[in-house]
Formats: sequence, structure tokens, C-alpha cells
Amino acid sequence: MMSGPEVSFFALCDGQSLLPLIEVQDHKRAYDGDLGPNTGGMGCYSPVPFWNAKLREQVIETILQPTLEGLKSDGIEYRGVLYCGLMITEDGPKVVEYNARFGDPECQILMTLCASDIVPALLACAGSKDHSLADIELNWRDEAALLVVLAASGYPATPRRDDPIIGLESVSDALVFHAGTRSENGHIVTAGGRVLGVLGTGANFSEARARTYEAVSRIHFEGAHYRTDIGKLAMSE
Ligand code: GLY
Repeated sequence: MMSGPEVSFFALCDGQSLLPLIEVQDHKRAYDGDLGPNTGGMGCYSPVPFWNAKLREQVIETILQPTLEGLKSDGIEYRGVLYCGLMITEDGPKVVEYNARFGDPECQILMTLCASDIVPALLACAGSKDHSLADIELNWRDEAALLVVLAASGYPATPRRDDPIIGLESVSDALVFHAGTRSENGHIVTAGGRVLGVLGTGANFSEARARTYEAVSRIHFEGAHYRTDIGKLAMSE
């Protein structure tokens, strides 16, 4: 058994080289205090307080680079996202899992905090001859971002559907990502377990968090539930 805090770290890969992105903290349990059933993710934030440049270098040099070399030596030309689920143990960072995709809702944080055009990097991953990851540098906004998922009643086991969502138009200071929604006669209704992701940014966590939860308080649908403690730990560290 391993113990320690978990964090997700991401890198793009064009088969030859890696372009590390940034770290994001996800919250997988359905209810406050990391209780209840496991979900795809109920909220996340970045930057992560216990993360630092040394840890980042360590993860790149001892985990990501050897992974890429291992893929190459197995004859695999890996292109795309390496999503590395890490546990920061007393013996250093260890891999809990790899995913070959961006995370949801981590991706919403990554795209919001990325200050550069990410398209050339994605084209390089897709094999475009005009782009190479080795020549690309991505800049990141020096801000905090925090996202809270509004889930449907019954999520994750049996999410309720088809409820009208009200208040979306009253959100002006946060981004609202639609995940489990659809349009019915001009109205947005629920159509999945994780219905919306509400994301606020700010100069620090308390600003980002306040913006997010203020926007969340404006949105309503029958049975909506969300975690009220996303980023709470980050603020106390
Ligand atoms: N949020 C976790 C995942 O995308 O796997």
C-alpha cells in the first residue's frame, strides 16, 4: 500500500519528445470530506500547494522520460496525452495510474490556465510535419483556477435526467462547461451524471474559490448536488 497526497500531472507527447504541462488536484469522491462513492471527478484546482519545481523535475526525469523511452524501446510511437496519476509518498512520487487522455474535469483547468495557443502542440502530437513539440514552449497564467462539478441527483449510480437548468445566463464572472446537458425546445436540460463544470479564476485560491461558488449558487436544477469543499485544503496550506 502507498500513502500520501495524490496529484495528476500531464505531458503531451509527439512520439519523440515530451512537453510537460502542469499539475492538477482532482477530487474523486462524491461528497464533502472525500466521502461517498468514487466518481469521474467532482472538482479540481491548480496550482497545487504541495507541488514545486523540484517535484516537477523529479516526475519528468524519473517517471515521464523513462516511460517515453520504455514505449520507444517497445516499438510504440506514442502520440497524445500522458496523464500520470501520482501519489507523493515518503519515498518520492510514485505512479498510481496512467491514462492516455486529458482528464475530466482536469482538462478544463489546463485549457483555462494555458496562456499560449495549444493548437500547434496538439498538431505536433497528431503528426503534423510543420510542428514539433521540441520547439514549442507553453506559458501558463500566474493565477489559481478552481472548478466545481454540479452533478445530477443519483450520480454516480443512477443519475436523474431531463430537468430544466435555470440561472445559466446570470453567470458572468466564471466559465460554465457543459458536460451532461442538452437543448430541448430552446431550454437547457440535464442529460447526464456530471451536468456542468463551473470554473473561476483569481489571483489566489480564495478569489478563484469565491468566484466559482458564487457562480454555482446561481445555477439550479432539481436534485443538483456538488461538493462544497473543493480547494478548502489548498487554502489552509
Ligand atoms: N478526473 C479523472 C479522470 O479523468 O480520470
